[in-house]
Amino acid sequence: MVNRLELPAGFRWGVSTASYQIEGAVAEDGRGRSVWDVFAERPGAVKDGHTGRVACDHYHRYGEDVALMRELGLDGYRFSVAWPRVVPEGSGVVNAAGLDFYDRLVDELLEAGITPLPTLFHWDLPQALEERGGWLERDTAYRFAEYAEIVADRLGDRVSAWITLNEPFVHMVYGYALGIHAPGRTLMLDSLPVAHHQLLGHGLAASVLRERGREVLIANNLTPVQPASADPADVAAAEAYDALHNRLFTDPLLLGRYPDLSAYGVGEDLDGCVREGDLELVSGPGLDGLGVNFYNPTRISAPAEPGLPFAESPIEGVPRTAFGWPVVPDGLRELLVGLRERYGAALPPIVITENGCSVADEVAPDGTVDDRFRIDYLAGHLDAVAHAVAEGVDVRGYYTWSLLDNYEWAEGFSQRFGLVHVDFETQRRTPKASYAWYRDLIAAHRARH
Ligand code: NOJ
Repeated sequence: MVNRLELPAGFRWGVSTASYQIEGAVAEDGRGRSVWDVFAERPGAVKDGHTGRVACDHYHRYGEDVALMRELGLDGYRFSVAWPRVVPEGSGVVNAAGLDFYDRLVDELLEAGITPLPTLFHWDLPQALEERGGWLERDTAYRFAEYAEIVADRLGDRVSAWITLNEPFVHMVYGYALGIHAPGRTLMLDSLPVAHHQLLGHGLAASVLRERGREVLIANNLTPVQPASADPADVAAAEAYDALHNRLFTDPLLLGRYPDLSAYGVGEDLDGCVREGDLELVSGPGLDGLGVNFYNPTRISAPAEPGLPFAESPIEGVPRTAFGWPVVPDGLRELLVGLRERYGAALPPIVITENGCSVADEVAPDGTVDDRFRIDYLAGHLDAVAHAVAEGVDVRGYYTWSLLDNYEWAEGFSQRFGLVHVDFETQRRTPKASYAWYRDLIAAHRARH
């Protein structure tokens, strides 16, 4: 597929990963336990009992992985720092060997001409903090800011832009409301303090980074929400879902206030956990970029039974990824244009910090991996980004998820998202057709500008 519209000169190309999904080496060099180490060992928690104990063994093979990135011609690499590698008990003693790993990684990236874009929290909370209440506790936000300071002080001389949190919505809902992810709590709406405490942690860490002259981003999982019909009950349900999934995070960050969650029976102080001055902290340091992780749009109808004020309604008649997620590239254009309409001048430049799809990829006897489904997915979504840019949205870069097939959380190793196939028995990396396609796309874009 040919992109119909051109992306601007200076548009940045990257790939994304996350620590627990690729590093392995969970008990090496003084790393502490994370909530994911504990959760993955719980019988039945993860498909086929898979854990991230070895994952892609990136901790030992980062040199090979950076070489794969260099060959792609990337501008940037988004990875995450494992908090329990750096501060094994979540606060207090710092593990120098953990910091050394990220130090080596950053140097290797810079040497390859790739700009590091670290995420400080991609869901692997130190287990010691979970035992003190995790993100349900306000204190975790302050511990997060301390940890941010430690990492920034070590890497900040070479890393100019940072992402504080990854997908606070998904972490709250999967981890604390539904119990599908670590830490496996099933609190439903009582999990809402997790939203606020993560945002508070973002604000505190952002201040630390800003004081050091660094740029601050946050990566949110956002989805355009469509009502299943024009029926006012469906429209109201879609509005309620949008408030919970999207605006619960973007409104406090960009407007300094929470959206109306009264459809959930929740007050604007999120039932008591928002203290005076908090929202100034959350929005105060400002954002240099809004990271957008996009996978699919969402269709919502009025609930058939009492409970939550919405029900999800399937999107029919479109291709589906191996995960079963609907493929609707124009949803990304719609999302980006919608953000600009809602936030206007308050919207910072956007970076697509994740976008990609899982495919049941296999290495053919001739050593190739034909993932044209992924190529179509990526090309379609890049075209959607180009259309949003043509409509005036300031999008600065695109980081595909993911470089490697990796540990897909509760799905274990069953969902492959990589441009590079990983044989989890041998750790052999095999670039897929999409890898060559992305490499050529980047080179062609650069040659034109
Ligand atoms: C979002 C998450 O940030 C990432 O960890 C995950 O693997 C991808 N989506 C795909 O589900």
